[in-house]
Amino acid sequence: MSHLLRSAADACRPWLALAGFGGALLGGAILVHGQGPSVGSTPRGLPPVVHPKDNPPTDAKISLGKQLYFDPRLSRDNTISCASCHDPEKGYSNADQFATGVGGKKGGRNSPTVINSAYFTFQFWDGRAKTLEEQALGPIQNPVEMNMTLPEVVEKLNAIPGYKSQFKEVFGSDVTSDGIAKAIAAFERTVLSGDAPYDRFLAGDKGAMSEAAQRGWALFKGKANCLACHSGPSLTDNAFHNIGVGMDRKAIDDGRKAISKLGGDLGSFKTPTLREIARTAPYMHDGSMKTLEEVVEHYNKGGVVNDTLDEEIFPLKLTAEEKADLVTFMKEGLASPSYPAIKAPELPK
Ligand code: HEC
Ligand code: HEC
Repeated sequence: MSHLLRSAADACRPWLALAGFGGALLGGAILVHGQGPSVGSTPRGLPPVVHPKDNPPTDAKISLGKQLYFDPRLSRDNTISCASCHDPEKGYSNADQFATGVGGKKGGRNSPTVINSAYFTFQFWDGRAKTLEEQALGPIQNPVEMNMTLPEVVEKLNAIPGYKSQFKEVFGSDVTSDGIAKAIAAFERTVLSGDAPYDRFLAGDKGAMSEAAQRGWALFKGKANCLACHSGPSLTDNAFHNIGVGMDRKAIDDGRKAISKLGGDLGSFKTPTLREIARTAPYMHDGSMKTLEEVVEHYNKGGVVNDTLDEEIFPLKLTAEEKADLVTFMKEGLASPSYPAIKAPELPK
């Protein structure tokens, strides 16, 4: 990519700056690989992760959660793990429009990324779960995802000595569904992306982003109005909006309305994080947009006009160069060199 060529010339600057922050960065990296306790050591640009009082992280718990996350035995036919749909190699999302669960069944929504879900105040596109602990047992029981009942999965894992002993060590009990949820959630809170060119730029390193990305950032917070919703450390306001996706189809996804029961929430979805966005195509709750160029085109035309369209969505009148700059900002500025590239661990027997 051109920005890589460009930065080859002045590569030393960002990397010197990086070295200067080596301590904090290393802390983040160690945490991500599950070797160190996690409290307090987050990549630049991200606030400390807040852990629920009843689920403090420990190395052993995070390691257990990581095994569960990658283990297809949590599904009925031993084929689907959390990582099947939230794959570290695909931005913790999945390249399919609709993720495929047990028996080839497909749901009606695109897999959102798990990156920085530690900070989300709502989980799922419609926000129907608040915490990661609450969220984790959903897919295990979902008939189109892993298709198990909780008693079944508990019994199955209790029959695996390697899990039984780890649950004893971490929770002082046999395998329980509560423990499964807590361990997975503790692991997910280590999947963080920060310290991107964008963070270094905001911290004062003007050479951290190319000029095109800098113009894109200016548009993002100015003329293109993206910051109205994609704000804060993870580029999300943790709120719900109708941006006019899929509103021209016959079968409309109610989105947030199904949970809030408010008519005004029809077609509203949670603002997704834009961290590592270049890795997580296709986009939107229905996976209907294949590229970031398509996404920008959607915003530029003012979305699909409908009765509950958010007032922050309107035609932007961007030039071709401005559209390209916005895309460059997202691709280059929000991709971290310390991406949490976690590998599947060895699974217990
Ligand atoms: C078959 C694919 C599939 C599997 C397996 C799966 N997920 Fe998901 N996941 C999804 C989809 C699709 C959504 C969005 C559903 C919705 O919003 O209605 C989602 C949502 C989430 C979210 C919310 C993220 C956000 O931005 O709101 C988290 C966290 C998550 N999954 C974690 C997990 C964990 C942990 C597991 C394993 C226990 C798992 N998922 C298994 C497809 C899957
Ligand atoms: C009114 C709030 C709002 C504004 C303004 C807004 N967004 Fe969004 N954005 C959202 C919501 C909500 C979604 C998810 C919508 C859906 O799936 O139906 C989204 C989705 C996205 C996605 C897809 C993310 C994914 O993981 O699928 C990208 C990329 C994106 N927005 C970029 C932008 C850019 C660039 C701008 C400015 C041109 C912008 N957004 C302006 C709220 C907003």
